[in-house]
Amino acid sequence: MMSSLNLPALRRATGTVRLPGSKSISNRMLLLAALADGATEIRDLLDSDDTRVMLAALEKVGIGVTAMGDNAWRIEGCGGVFPVKDADLFMGNAGTAIRPLTAALALSGGHYRLSGVPRMHERPIGDLVDGLLQIGADVRYTGNPGFPPLAIHPSKVKLSAPIRLRGDVSSQFLTALLMALPLTGEAAVIEMTTELISRPYIEITLNLMARFGVKVEREGWQRFTLAAGQRYRSPGLLHVEGDASAASYFLAAGAIGGGPVRVEGVGRNSIQGDVRFADALEAMGARIEWGEQHIEARAPLSGKLKAFDLDLNHVPDAAMTLAVAALFADGRCVLRNIASWRVKETDRIAAMATELRKLGATVEEGPDWLAIDPSPFPLPPSCPIDTYDDHRMAMCFSLAALGGVPVTINDPQCVNKTFPDYFDVLAEITAPVIAIDGPSASGKGTVAERVATALGYHYLDSGSLYRLTALASMRAGVALDDEAGVAALAASLPATFEGGRILLASDDVTDAIRSEEVSAGASKVAALPAVRAALLARQRAYRRFPGLVADGRDMASVVFPTAAAKVFLTASAAVRAERRYKQLIAKGMPANMHALLQDLQERDARDAQRSVAPLRQCDDADLVDTTGMNIDAAVAAVMTIVKRQEL
Ligand code: DC
Repeated sequence: MMSSLNLPALRRATGTVRLPGSKSISNRMLLLAALADGATEIRDLLDSDDTRVMLAALEKVGIGVTAMGDNAWRIEGCGGVFPVKDADLFMGNAGTAIRPLTAALALSGGHYRLSGVPRMHERPIGDLVDGLLQIGADVRYTGNPGFPPLAIHPSKVKLSAPIRLRGDVSSQFLTALLMALPLTGEAAVIEMTTELISRPYIEITLNLMARFGVKVEREGWQRFTLAAGQRYRSPGLLHVEGDASAASYFLAAGAIGGGPVRVEGVGRNSIQGDVRFADALEAMGARIEWGEQHIEARAPLSGKLKAFDLDLNHVPDAAMTLAVAALFADGRCVLRNIASWRVKETDRIAAMATELRKLGATVEEGPDWLAIDPSPFPLPPSCPIDTYDDHRMAMCFSLAALGGVPVTINDPQCVNKTFPDYFDVLAEITAPVIAIDGPSASGKGTVAERVATALGYHYLDSGSLYRLTALASMRAGVALDDEAGVAALAASLPATFEGGRILLASDDVTDAIRSEEVSAGASKVAALPAVRAALLARQRAYRRFPGLVADGRDMASVVFPTAAAKVFLTASAAVRAERRYKQLIAKGMPANMHALLQDLQERDARDAQRSVAPLRQCDDADLVDTTGMNIDAAVAAVMTIVKRQEL
């Protein structure tokens, strides 16, 4: 059965995203490391379907690959000779795996059969096979001529004449040949017989080959020469840059949804051509800032993105994001020179046109262009968006929800191809948050939970994280003023929240963390800056679709400063002490009204006076004083504030 994801109407995008590793760099590095002399450690490798396809294939042909944890991999290079000489290899729909592997295997003297999913068997590979046949490789089509599946057999290759290669369908054919040719040990020349598209991807290839010690002389984009006797040598340790194509979704989100949105992992010195997508956004009026390791985007000062007419041959993947950004432009937008879209995961020009029309746009398509007239804003409610088993369709159409309309994405799991966490990461910068802060026993926990249930949102009880940290420290014998020790525990709390129960490792501590001893301990550890820092990312990760209600002391001021609604919920100290007293008595626990009041006032003072994230009402928060209210009245008061935000 087809699954689908309902994205809520989104109004703002702000925050910071750590990018997954680049797909193009990951798969090239894996193959080069496999072909090299010596072992290579690759850090920050992309964890996705396409890289798994490459890793599995390399293992099958006898390469030692070891996961070292945290997306680091050790690859034992084979010095150019794959140990296994006969293998069936399944390539899924990974173009960045089948193309270069076909070339490398064709020069490896073995028997190999490569196949993929049905769509892979419709994606051309004929230009590459023609190139390989010219030098005497034995590569045969076992299905339709020009397309996978393929069978490869040993052969004697000779490089007497330049290889003549087409470059107008996909640049991956040139990449594949370039990476494989050093296996022959001979001098080699490739001459392009057509214009070469997607040139920045060739730059990635040449850059990575150079890091493995192989030089290619390039004359324009026409002729590529490799000197004889070059071998790949492991550079030892390598890092994969963040994925610049994936960055496009978040940068566009910042440009459409206010921003600032910062992507970390690519910057001004990136070797990926898709970072130039940011220039296209800038041409639309977005404000872009470049750093060494980040790019940041915000909406135009005018608030409205401008129409564009651009040649996008150099950013073919990220250009899809621009087509959806066109829905937010002030006029007709034209994307030119994008013929390669037709042979990607799906016919992307046709798919894009069909789905953009669902969002009210008037779209014209040509063989290598697309013209988009957005509908007048706001976007109309749309029927579900189809994704054609194309990760980029799913990712770029999620941005339409920033038009303030709910959007349904069919088959959202197709993002696994390159970005399995995509929707969670998008949620971290766009999902609406309702921040409810206040002193202890103000009733905010109960109110927040009820509001979350009413809205169908997730709920974060941030105080429980401080309570868990205190309890874990006490149990581990770590002193509550040992800042580094407590912070280390906070950073790796084995806590799980399961239907109202709270577990520390496998121990149910739901009641234990509410004891007066742990309450006092929580207030102490919460004053330690390193502990607060250690819990920050964890709290932000609770921001998921369709939205989050978060309660605590610094939800509005520190953790979710751009929350859609901010509430400061309080009550007089006497009323709060009385509520806590009744709670404890009801649970059969001992309680003393006088001691409770004193304790509460001490904790209020500590929470309010500490130097980091003190308890205070933000200027932009609404005050709800529940002194004279019961829970129903308090929930109603908060819901009134929330409804004003049209969430
Ligand atoms: O909300 P609570 O009583 O469960 O919080 C327990 C302690 O943690 C309390 O002393 C305040 C502190 N805390 C905090 O400093 N920041 C938060 N966001 C939540 C709680």
